[in-house]
Amino acid sequence: MPIELRYDNMFSSRLGEGRGIDSDRFHSFAARFREIQSDVEARRAAGQLGFYDLPYLHDVVESIEKFAHGGGQAFSNLVVLGIGGSALGATALRSALLDPYWNELSDEERGFYPRLYIVDNPDPATFAALLRRVDVRKTLFNVVSKSGGTAETMSQFLIVRDKLHEAIGDGYRRHLLFTTDPEKGVLRRLANEEDIAALPIPQNVGGRFSVLSSVGLLPAAMTGIDINQLLAGARAMDDRCRSDQLLDNPAAVYAVLQYLADTEYGAPIHVMMPYSDPLKDVADWFRQLWAESLGKQRSLTGEEIFVGPTPVKSLGATDQHSQVQLYIEGPFDKTITFINEADRREDITIPSVYPDVSELGYLGGHTLGELLRVEKEATEEALTQRGRMNMTIEVPTVDAFVMGEIIFLLQIATVYAGALYGVDPLDQPGVELGKQLTYKAFGRV
Ligand code: PA5
Repeated sequence: MPIELRYDNMFSSRLGEGRGIDSDRFHSFAARFREIQSDVEARRAAGQLGFYDLPYLHDVVESIEKFAHGGGQAFSNLVVLGIGGSALGATALRSALLDPYWNELSDEERGFYPRLYIVDNPDPATFAALLRRVDVRKTLFNVVSKSGGTAETMSQFLIVRDKLHEAIGDGYRRHLLFTTDPEKGVLRRLANEEDIAALPIPQNVGGRFSVLSSVGLLPAAMTGIDINQLLAGARAMDDRCRSDQLLDNPAAVYAVLQYLADTEYGAPIHVMMPYSDPLKDVADWFRQLWAESLGKQRSLTGEEIFVGPTPVKSLGATDQHSQVQLYIEGPFDKTITFINEADRREDITIPSVYPDVSELGYLGGHTLGELLRVEKEATEEALTQRGRMNMTIEVPTVDAFVMGEIIFLLQIATVYAGALYGVDPLDQPGVELGKQLTYKAFGRV
C-alpha cells in the first residue's frame, strides 16, 4: 500500500467560515502547477536537480553494499562525522529502521553490523565522551562533507585523525572513509594524497538533498538496512510525482497547500508531528530541508523578498502534553502535518490488571499502538473543530521502502515549493555567510 496524503482538513469546507483554504483557490493552482512541473522536468533533464537521479544509480548501491557486507563488518563501531545535511538524513534512517537501542545490542543481536554513532554538533562534552567510549582501533570514521571545508566536521576529523595516528600509526588510513565531492575540496585532496577511501557525493546534489546518495546509504547499508528497498520506495514516489496533474501528484498537493497556508491564509508555521518514535527524526530532517531551501532573501530574479515558512518538529503523543494547547487555542498561524503509521512493527497489549478501577480499567486489553492512534485522531478532531488547518501523511508501516517514499515525497515537494515562492531551493547563501564569518574569526585565509 503506497503512502497517502489526507488533506480535507486544510479546507474551509471542513474548518468553517473564515478558516482554512478555499478549495477553489487551491484548484486554481492546477495550471500554475503544470508550468512548474514542465520547468522541473526540463531542469531535471538538464542535470540541475541531481537528487532525482540518486535512486537510479545502481553501481553506487552495488559498491556500497559490497563494502558494507565485506570490509565494513570488520569494524565494531561506525562513527559518522558530519553536520546539517551530512548528518540529519542518516539520523532519520537510523531512528526509523534500526532498533532504538541498537548500540546496546550484542554483536549477535546486531547481526555483527557495527554500532552507529552520528555526531553532528561539535560540542566537546559529547565528542570527548564518544572518544572515551569507542576504541578507535575497532572504529571506522566516516567523514561526511560535501564541501570538505565545514569547520565543525573538519575539527572533528582533525581530532580523530590525530587519535588514530597515535593509536595505530600509518594504519590510520584504513579507519577513515570520506564522503565528499568527487573532485573538489580538501577531503578529496587528502583522499588522493594519503590513499584514504572516499565515496562521491554527486556534484549536482547538495547536503539536504543527499540522504539517498552515499551520505545516507553508507551508514544505512553498514548497519544492515536494505538500501535497495529504500531506493525502490523513492522510485515509486518519483513515478507518482511525474504527473503534471495537481491532484494526482502528492508532492504538488503538499507544496501548494503549505504555500497557500503561508502566503494567503496567515499560517507561516509548518508543524510536522509524527505519532511515531521511529519517524521523529524525519521531522528533524524535514525541518532543515524546508527551512534552508525556502527561507530566502532574494527571488530567482534577484529581488529582495524575505520569504520562507518556519518548519517546527513535534512528536505525538509527547507534545500533546507540551505544544498541543498552543496549536489548538493559540494564534491561527500554523498548519499541522501528522504522520500516522497504520501498522506498527511491534505492539504491546496493556494488561487488564485493575478492571474495576475506572482510571485504569478502560486501558486494559488495548494496545500502546491503539492508544497512539486514538490520541492522534483525537488531536486531529480537536484541531479541526477549532478551525486549525491540518493534514496527515498516512504510512502503511515504517520500513525501508516507505522511508524512500517519504524522503522523495518531501524532497520533491520542497522543489515545487521553491518554484511557488520563486526562490532557488538548492542554495543556502545565509549558511555560507555564517561559514565565511567563522573562517574569518579563526584567521583562515
Ligand atoms: O544542506 C546543506 O547544504 C547544508 O546543511 C550542509 O549539509 C551543511 O552545511 C554541511 O555542509 P558540508 O556537507 O559541505 O560539510
